[in-house]
Amino acid sequence: MMEEAKKLVQGESAPVYRTSTGCPIYNPLASARIGEGGPVLLQDFHLIDLYQKFDRERIPERVVHAKGSGAFGTFEVTNDITKYTKLNMFSKVGKKTPMLARFSQVSGEQGFPDMYRDPRGFALKFYTEDGIFDMVGNNTPTFFLRDPAKFPVFIHSQKRDPQSSLRDNTVYWDYLSQNSESIHQVMILFSDLGGTPYGYRFMDGFSSHTYKFVNDKGEFYYCKWHFLSDQGTKGMTNEEATETNGTNPDFARQDLFDAIERGDYPSWTLYVQVMTPEEAEKYRYNIFDLTKVIPHADVPMQEVGRFTLNQNPKNFFTDIEQAAFSPSHMLPGMDISPDPVLQVRTFSYPDTHRHRLGANFEQIPVNKPRCPVFNYSRDGPMNVTDNQGSMPNYPSSLQPLAKEYHEPNEKHEKWVGQVTYHMDEITDVDFEQPRAFWERVLGKQPGQQDNFVKNVASHLSKAVPVVRQRQYKVFTRVHPELGSRIQEATEKEAEKVAKTQNKGVNQGNKHMFEPANK
Ligand code: HEM
Repeated sequence: MMEEAKKLVQGESAPVYRTSTGCPIYNPLASARIGEGGPVLLQDFHLIDLYQKFDRERIPERVVHAKGSGAFGTFEVTNDITKYTKLNMFSKVGKKTPMLARFSQVSGEQGFPDMYRDPRGFALKFYTEDGIFDMVGNNTPTFFLRDPAKFPVFIHSQKRDPQSSLRDNTVYWDYLSQNSESIHQVMILFSDLGGTPYGYRFMDGFSSHTYKFVNDKGEFYYCKWHFLSDQGTKGMTNEEATETNGTNPDFARQDLFDAIERGDYPSWTLYVQVMTPEEAEKYRYNIFDLTKVIPHADVPMQEVGRFTLNQNPKNFFTDIEQAAFSPSHMLPGMDISPDPVLQVRTFSYPDTHRHRLGANFEQIPVNKPRCPVFNYSRDGPMNVTDNQGSMPNYPSSLQPLAKEYHEPNEKHEKWVGQVTYHMDEITDVDFEQPRAFWERVLGKQPGQQDNFVKNVASHLSKAVPVVRQRQYKVFTRVHPELGSRIQEATEKEAEKVAKTQNKGVNQGNKHMFEPANK
């Protein structure tokens, strides 16, 4: 229990137990009944109140990223980048902006073990003077797909089977092996750092997508964001992660909470890669392809600032579960790029927030802008503000609103073309960066190539042979040695899996509690 709550329940000012309408209750653990042992009475409002609240405790969990944890903190600017962006929170060195971070697993439900192999969500909400700005990224600089039509079916393949409600490694790899633009993300995910980072404090975060900066002259630049952990990075091996899932399924949540409680505040430094539209046009990779990174050797990292998390949530449900992050929560100075996946995300998040939290989700304190809001929208369920009082709800000539102060004078891309349903074409270029990851990232860290092969083998071995074979071909296209090592290790593991399917201590025909007459 937090100190504040302890003081409240122990002190002289300990609160009186009341119904939700404020009526004090003498004995909250007793129902009104007729006589001793008789039936309960419908007039017992406290009992009904208790039940109606209890029956409605659960709200829909997030359709993805359901298990997560978060904390509040502050972002501070350390380097001037106003030549690229007029984003108010970057307006001067030393400027501080309050913020919220939520880290998460992607595919599991709320009670899922933290150290399961999965990308980690890295969602940030900045309460700027100008309004809410969210950066909703992952701990991976890439993603599994580049056509948004694939996201819902990809997610289905990573979640539970519609009949058995079991996770199914065959389905998992069946999707990936048929959609091999996923290979770069698969390579990152099956490394120790990418798929089983040690809690949340020791991982980096990425915007993954290319976004746009817009400066006060109306010029735009493309940018990618990188949040590098000041704690350094570390991952668990497959064995360590599996063991941790058994001993403490909430490992990542606990590690973050405990660190902040003891004053060991984690922080991340923000760097950006910036490109002009002309450079982007000539660049060898499509910067709107989410399966690719922009190597630092091509576009250097520029430091911007640092955020530090120093306050745990006071209440998990109100502060973290009800938090609503969206890539569409933009502000002047930032913009969405033409990346099609990013564009669909701008629709999907607020859509799900309306379903998960209701039409007025932005009025919930954790989501509420810290600047006054005036517009012509009103009412709706659970409106808990003053509903903009007596302000006109149309563009009144008698009481006009002030003009938007950022004159929108921005230049943007021009797009001309015919409507096509472009099928994702996989080319050799898609294997260049995964190859570099195998050779130059994993290859440089002692033991990491071996661990990668083991990590894949332990997972892929539980898929059926036809799917395994198809995925070997994808790894071979990355690198022939990688393909053959994965195949050899996976087939060996598959033999072991077949032999050890019937585990458990055999007690013969005995029962723990034998009937006395037997
Ligand atoms: C959560 C959709 C790709 C990062 C979510 C949620 C939806 C969603 C519906 C639940 C939001 C909520 O209930 O509040 C999509 C779609 C995608 C996509 C449609 C692609 C077409 C990505 C990518 C990233 C990402 C590429 C990272 C770069 C996250 C994070 C969360 C999340 C961090 C959790 C936010 C939180 O902590 O509340 N996504 N997503 N998603 N997504 Fe995505």
